[in-house]
Amino acid sequence: MKTLRECIAEAEERKVAIGHFNISNIEGFWGIVRAARELAVPVIIGVSEGERDFIGVRQVAAMVASVREESESPIFLNADHTYSFDRVKEAIDAGFDAVIFDGSKLSIEENITETKKCVEYARSTRSEIIVEGELGFIGTSSKLLDAVPEGVGLGADDLVKPDEARRFVTETGVDLFAPAVGNIHGMFKSQPDPALDIDRIKLLRESAGVPLVLHGASGNTDDDIRRAIAAGIAIIHINTEIRVAYRDALRLALQENPDEIVPYKILKSAVQAIQAVVEKKLKLFNSL
Ligand code: G3H
Ligand code: ZN
Repeated sequence: MKTLRECIAEAEERKVAIGHFNISNIEGFWGIVRAARELAVPVIIGVSEGERDFIGVRQVAAMVASVREESESPIFLNADHTYSFDRVKEAIDAGFDAVIFDGSKLSIEENITETKKCVEYARSTRSEIIVEGELGFIGTSSKLLDAVPEGVGLGADDLVKPDEARRFVTETGVDLFAPAVGNIHGMFKSQPDPALDIDRIKLLRESAGVPLVLHGASGNTDDDIRRAIAAGIAIIHINTEIRVAYRDALRLALQENPDEIVPYKILKSAVQAIQAVVEKKLKLFNSL
């Protein structure tokens, strides 16, 4: 089976992107695994600190390892948005393939210091671990929005600048770089999210010198996503759209079958709804 590093290099070469999808439970897990197997493409399962506390850190690692052993499917596990070195270490020690230190709320100096510490620990354990760093605040929650999250700026001056990207990547040694390029966590309730700055993505890919990750891609138009991939995005994160699909399917199942009490029957359509969202995104990201 290919390593995540190899899959990322291949995605960049082919001008496609690997999908990264968050889960909170086993319904999300199967929805994503089935979609990726169906389309025979690599996929990354992401769990934020809260999501992995709910599932269990070592338990989610065991789930991913088990499907890999069973089918050699290129399914990888990422410790999404991690705010402390200790929690990065915990995920690495549990066998995660990738970790993100999220210092986007810190000063660039503090962010560099903490991210570098995570890179050094990863390198001292397993060489294949991928470490991602972030610059620029894009909000913190995968939720439905009425407005741009507080503290997020979308003007050209608010986005990450090429010299900051170069400095951050050079000084930390990260494998992947997640910049603020007009993206926001969460998605607008009734209109598409703001447009991405495609030219900035292009400039940042050149200055960063490592593959770029687009966070907060729920709610962005398909056209923006295609152009972002062409400009240098190699991994794309989706969470809010999955959460909405899960909630809607579950609500409908409970409404339509009020006497049903078997969890796997109630939740069947929720798994299918997640699978449908993930398949649609994987087709877009992989030009299928
Ligand atoms: O890390 C997770 C994401 O960036 C998801 O963002 O909820 O806007 O899809 P989203
Ligand atoms: Zn994110």
